[in-house]
Amino acid sequence: MPDFLDICQVDPVDLRAILDQATDMKKRRAGLNRGAIDQDAPLAGMITALIFEKPSTRTRISFDVGVRQLGGQPILLSGGETHLGQTESVSDTARVISRFADLAMIRTFDASSLHEFAVAADIPLINGLTDQSHPCQVLADIMTFEEHRGSIKGKHVTWLGVGSNVCNSFVEAAAQFGFTLTFSGPDDRAPDAAALGFAESHGTKIRHQPDPERAVADADLVVTDVWSSMHDSVADKDALNASLRPFQVNEQLMARTKPETLFMHCLPAHRGEEVTSAVLDGAKSVVFDEAENRLHAQKGILRWCLQV
Ligand code: CP
Repeated sequence: MPDFLDICQVDPVDLRAILDQATDMKKRRAGLNRGAIDQDAPLAGMITALIFEKPSTRTRISFDVGVRQLGGQPILLSGGETHLGQTESVSDTARVISRFADLAMIRTFDASSLHEFAVAADIPLINGLTDQSHPCQVLADIMTFEEHRGSIKGKHVTWLGVGSNVCNSFVEAAAQFGFTLTFSGPDDRAPDAAALGFAESHGTKIRHQPDPERAVADADLVVTDVWSSMHDSVADKDALNASLRPFQVNEQLMARTKPETLFMHCLPAHRGEEVTSAVLDGAKSVVFDEAENRLHAQKGILRWCLQV
């Protein structure tokens, strides 16, 4: 059964099928209580291990609730509560978890731990975020865009600020879903070369537009992310923020966009840094729809991994 490790590793036909099923499941649940189990209970009798080496609100809750709605049972394991990567190798832990669970999701630091786990495990593995990518987030974002504006194919997405793990997954998604992506941020904060190389090898050129006003002028979707997260070791945060200040998403910048342009942020946001409250809470913002769609998109991913 397949792993869901990165958007570049999943066939575009499968990515579309995951989103179609997610949309269908979301519609079928209309009016149900959050804890009600989906009628077909496709994960009945199955255990999903949810492993978090980093903090999480959205990923943790949405996977836990999603597994329950699919009729399965989650086991939540937080950093420091297991031997993983500290007093036991990642691969030994993966082999042990494979004896107890039918599926695993891991949020970890470097992608090398994700890949070590995937190679050693006998069960499918889902990437719940690494320092390099966040594929579950970007599938939820595409689902959200399409709910509001229809197919993302041929549309223009502009990423502002830092080429983060979410941005890397957007770069891969541009190639897989057929949209244009413009990055607008400092040269030394561009997305990872590996993600850019994947896009380019699939005929998708990621644009780099250093002028944020020009970058958003034609955008159907404007996206940003925090400039540094709690685990980043930033020597001089003031200097970093000063270099990124021109790329802040604020009302002035959003005034340059088209009337139908949407704004997204994976959350948590640092209000007043990468985005102002006026934008985050404004009419173009769909950030809480994105957060909810983590649940539905991931239910599609869980089912795809287990082929149920
Ligand atoms: N966007 C996201 O992954 O949120 P959490 O860190 O709260 O899981």
